[in-house]
Order: sequence, then structure tokens, then C-alpha cells
Amino acid sequence: MAIRTSPRIAGIPHYEPGLTMSEVMASHGLDSVVKLASNESPFPPLPQVKAVIDAGIDGLNRYPDGAARALREALADQHAVDPAQVAIGNGSCELIVHAGVALLDPGTTIIHATPSFAMYPHLAAESGAEGIAIPLAADGGHDLHAMAAAVDERTRLVVICNPNNPTGTYRSADQVEEFLDLVPDDLAVLVDEAYYDFVDLPDRGRVSVLARTRPNLLVTRTFSKAYGLCGLRVGYGIGSADWVRALDAVRQPFNTNELAQAAALESLRHPAAIQKRVDEAISERARVADALAEMGVPFTPSRSNFILMQPPDPGMDARVLHESLLARGVIVRDGSALGAPGTLRVTIGTPSENDVFLAALAAVTGTEREVQHS
Ligand SMILES: Cc1ncc(COP(=O)(O)O)c(C=O)c1O
Repeated sequence: MAIRTSPRIAGIPHYEPGLTMSEVMASHGLDSVVKLASNESPFPPLPQVKAVIDAGIDGLNRYPDGAARALREALADQHAVDPAQVAIGNGSCELIVHAGVALLDPGTTIIHATPSFAMYPHLAAESGAEGIAIPLAADGGHDLHAMAAAVDERTRLVVICNPNNPTGTYRSADQVEEFLDLVPDDLAVLVDEAYYDFVDLPDRGRVSVLARTRPNLLVTRTFSKAYGLCGLRVGYGIGSADWVRALDAVRQPFNTNELAQAAALESLRHPAAIQKRVDEAISERARVADALAEMGVPFTPSRSNFILMQPPDPGMDARVLHESLLARGVIVRDGSALGAPGTLRVTIGTPSENDVFLAALAAVTGTEREVQHS
């Protein structure tokens, strides 16, 4: 007999996780695969961070600091804000989900872009609010004017994904500020900067400066991407004390585990080593983009650690291309699982992983001759 559940459950979109490496190896009889599907870092945590994680294991009989004070304070220092303006979560995803729990009710609306990060539609479905999904502009970035125009007195939350997943398109801090000026000061706006580290523009980081003083703005960031800690789950938000109080009100008391807090704190002590990895991802992104252009593969220019591409031949089905790459041991993300049918999203890996991807792509699309190896 089925258990009694909320009628809302039926409307929650099913999140389709990417294939695991062992699933692909088993189903295709392969000894090795390259995984470029989940926008992870190809690098393990820094050695100093690994040492802190190892040392922390002995203390796991104790609950973590529920307020994550040391990490909050370090991030508050870094962003020149009060610790009361910092939220810590079990991944930035948890903070995004908490924003929905804290702010949305039936009869209210949440506005986000489409295609964008798959979690945003969950917030509406879980709370019973109405989700308003605004199509991206032609360049793959948010149509901020259309989003502002969709705001009415029912709107409780607007989410801006910047750079946007899955397109990688970036909106400048001036554009975000112009949007903030168009909407009421008491309307909560969350700017999801999960990929901010990979924005190679002087503008990088300026939205978080706005979050120091704007009463309605929260910027979320993560240690999952550039810092290589997605398996530990830790993210943070910078915003008004009001925003942080709302998020803290709905979280469980010990939401961010001890090792995640310690690893994030240690990672913050090594900005140059992290930046070196980010620089490598940015230069590899340029190399992969050049190779795609040479092969005649259409793609969206990206400020992130992934590139959204289409098959070079419009007659080629992206799902077939996805399967052909899998058969050669290269896992990329099928755009149809991301709300972007007809596309594939490839994460930037190490130079040798990117070479494997480019060689497989050239082989399956018949564009071998043009590929430049690193
Ligand atoms: C746009 C965006 N936001 C948030 C996240 C969640 O990151 P995490 O929960 O690992 O911090 C992701 C993960 O891929 C993402 O793509």
C-alpha cells in the first residue's frame, strides 16, 4: 500500500544524475573512461587539505560546530562583511533548496531562467509555489529584462545563475545591478555563482560586493568546483543578515559536516594554488573551444568550466553522438537531461582528458584531420 504523501510530491521533477564511471565501463566493456559530465574539478583536494581531512577523522565522534563559526569568520573576512552576512551549507545546493523552503508558499512565484540549473524548478514544485521559467536570451545568458517584467506582488524569489549552467554565459555586475534597480528592494534575489571562479574578466566577484549592502541580494558560491571538494559538500552565501537569518531558520542544526568545514577553511589558505588550477582550466577551455571551432562544431562561448556544444552536422542527433562518445569511453552530459535538447555539455578536464574527448569527437564526427593535440 502506498504511503500518504503530499500531492506536491508528484509534481517534483526527477533529477537525472549523470552516468557513473563504473556504470559506463560495465555497460560498454571498457577498462577506462574519461568523465567530463558533472562539471567537477579533475584535480583532487590540495595536499594540505588532504592532511587536514586525515587529521579530522579522529574527531568524528563529536558533532561539528553547527554554526561553522571558523569558516563563517574566514569568509566574512575575505568578503569584508559581518559573519552574520555569511550562510554555510551542505553544498551551495542546500542553500538554494533552503531559499525555497524559507521564502516560498502556495500562491507565490519564483522566477528563474531556462535552460538553467536543474534544481531551480524543484523549489517551486516542493513548496507549491508557481515557477516562472524565462527563456534565455539568444547569447545563452539570462534575459534580465524579461525576468524583471515577470515580477509581480506574488513574487518571492528570483534566481540568476551566473555564469549560467548549462550555457556558460556570463552577465556583468552592471547588468545584475540594473536588474536589482528594476525590482522591489524587498524582493529576494539569489545569484548562484557556482562557476564564478572561472570568469576570466575584471568583473569577476563584483556581484558579491553588491551583496555587502543590497538588502535583498544573496550570492551563493561553492567549494565543489575550483576547490575540488564536491564529494565533501560545502558551499556558502554572502548577503544581507536578513537573508542569512531566513536560511539559518530552516537548516538542520549540524548541516555542514566537520571535515567539509575544515577542508574549506584550509582551502581558503591556499589561494595561489587554487588559482593555478583555475588558470589551467581557463586555458584548456580556450584550447577545447579552438579545437571545436576548427572541427566546425557549434558551441556557446563559455566563462565556466564546461562548454555547451551541438553536433557539427545538423542532421546528427545529439543523443546518438552522446552514445557514440560513451562507446569510446568519454562521458559527457546529454543536453536533453539539462533542458537543452540537441546539445551536449562537456566539462573541461585535464589536458590529457580533453585530448581523449577531442580525439573521440573527431573520430565519431569524421573531423579527425583538424584536431590539434596539446
Ligand atoms: C549552477 C549550479 N549551482 C549550484 C550547484 C551545486 O553545487 P554544490 O551543491 O556542489 O555546491 C551546481 C552544481 O553543479 C550548479 O551547476
